[in-house]
Amino acid sequence: MQLELIVEPLAELRVDALLIPAFEDGPPKLDLPAQPRIDELYAVGEFTGERFSLARLHSPEGLNARRLILIGCGKRADFDAAQLRLASAAAVRSLKSKAIKRIALWMGGGLGQAAWVRAAAEGALLGAYEPDRYRTDPKKEDSRLEGFAVLVPDGATAELEAALARGRLVAEAQNWARELAAEPANRLTPTALAEAALAMAEERGLACEILDRERMRQLGMGALLGVAQGSAEPPVLILVRYRPTGAPAPTPHLGLLGKGVTFDTGGISLKPSEKMDQMRYDMAGGAAVLAAMRAIAELRPPLPVTALVPAVENMPGPRAQRPGDIVTTLSGKTVEVLNTDAEGRLILADAITYARRLGCTHLVDLATLTGAIVVALGHVYAGAFGNDPAWLDCVLAAARSVGERLWPMPLDEEYLEPLKTPFADLANVGPRAAGAITAARFIREFADPVPWVHLDIAGTAWLEEAKPFMPKGPTGIGVRTLVELALAPLPPAPGAAG
Ligand code: BES
Ligand code: ZN
Ligand code: MN
Repeated sequence: MQLELIVEPLAELRVDALLIPAFEDGPPKLDLPAQPRIDELYAVGEFTGERFSLARLHSPEGLNARRLILIGCGKRADFDAAQLRLASAAAVRSLKSKAIKRIALWMGGGLGQAAWVRAAAEGALLGAYEPDRYRTDPKKEDSRLEGFAVLVPDGATAELEAALARGRLVAEAQNWARELAAEPANRLTPTALAEAALAMAEERGLACEILDRERMRQLGMGALLGVAQGSAEPPVLILVRYRPTGAPAPTPHLGLLGKGVTFDTGGISLKPSEKMDQMRYDMAGGAAVLAAMRAIAELRPPLPVTALVPAVENMPGPRAQRPGDIVTTLSGKTVEVLNTDAEGRLILADAITYARRLGCTHLVDLATLTGAIVVALGHVYAGAFGNDPAWLDCVLAAARSVGERLWPMPLDEEYLEPLKTPFADLANVGPRAAGAITAARFIREFADPVPWVHLDIAGTAWLEEAKPFMPKGPTGIGVRTLVELALAPLPPAPGAAG
């Protein structure tokens, strides 16, 4: 789909649909001959401005547009760029299957603001995504939408063009993360994920290195290898490096880590079969990290960024690790694997230690880590954990500014208690209580003292039921936050690399 800015009087626009955000507070004032018909829609209660509802007027008086479409945006006071992103996505999602090729969005009061242009552009592309690549009967109408234009005032267009371009870049990256997460596990093996990363890096001019099983054995990544050993698919550790050109010597070095379990059966601690199909998105964190790198390559922030995606398949079988096995992690710490289904923290432990060896000064990991975070926060917020308040604040601020919802969670010393075992340095699980927190606390053991944030996206990476602005399936959560973070100034790192 083409995205563009247009500078043209409202009345003269020749598009199939002129899209107007409309609020519960009363009809939008367009100062056009069609105004009485808009007022009428409100007066008879046919349209109330309810979020994501649509009303259509065909051949509106005084306009060259074929249709005028109101998109409900709720209360004006609650409306912000994040709401606009959703409204734009909902409109595209609803209109793309209709006989509409070109849409133009008129933003009234938000006209000419870069943040709004960007949000509208992101919404349009995100709303166009469908996880239907394996359907041989894709609804043909779905491909009709060709262009989405944002009306802007004359002048100030360079800044707005940049905002539009940024929106396109980030949303395309996010849609790529969604494509990867939607891939079934028979097609997207760890090796296939590595190939996707290599192809992306090649295309975007990034360095990419794949550590294979042999290399990981030499290094001593016992936790990662333990998880992988039950599968016929070999594990990989995917490294993607972005380096700024001509950076002054000591800069912070951002490390982005993503859980890349291409399928999680639970291993010998086998999961119930109900909803096990969903465990193909257990690499959504890894996908988000790779997708963020794809955008970062174009946006060229002034600091080095290294992505690390440990990718494995967690399977039961004659070679699988057993509950009670004790593995030695890359850090040297030993772990008693009491539950083979708590595999994400094991692979992340080794990847984090490796990130520190590579000199990363600030770490963020994204992982579909626990069912417990779904119990705590549902499908609305992802959980955010950290060992450094300034760094956690930085990640929270980045998320807020791009409309991704993170909720800070506690991580006190007491949460380490349940992971103590007489047989090794750490157990990989404790009792049920505070499961999302003890999981994060486990990972923290490998990150300290390097500033680190962990995002548990188990509840937010996959939509179980379609919403007006998004189909059932992968959400691409985290991509926007990571890209924003790479462009933000990082707080100083107190801890040295380990
Ligand atoms: N991948 C799962 C977590 C998950 C659950 C992701 C639901 C998405 C939706 C993770 O590897 C896992 O199995 N966690 C266990 C941990 C438990 C064994 C301590 C869980 O949450 O049940
Ligand atoms: Zn898992
Ligand atoms: Mn698991």
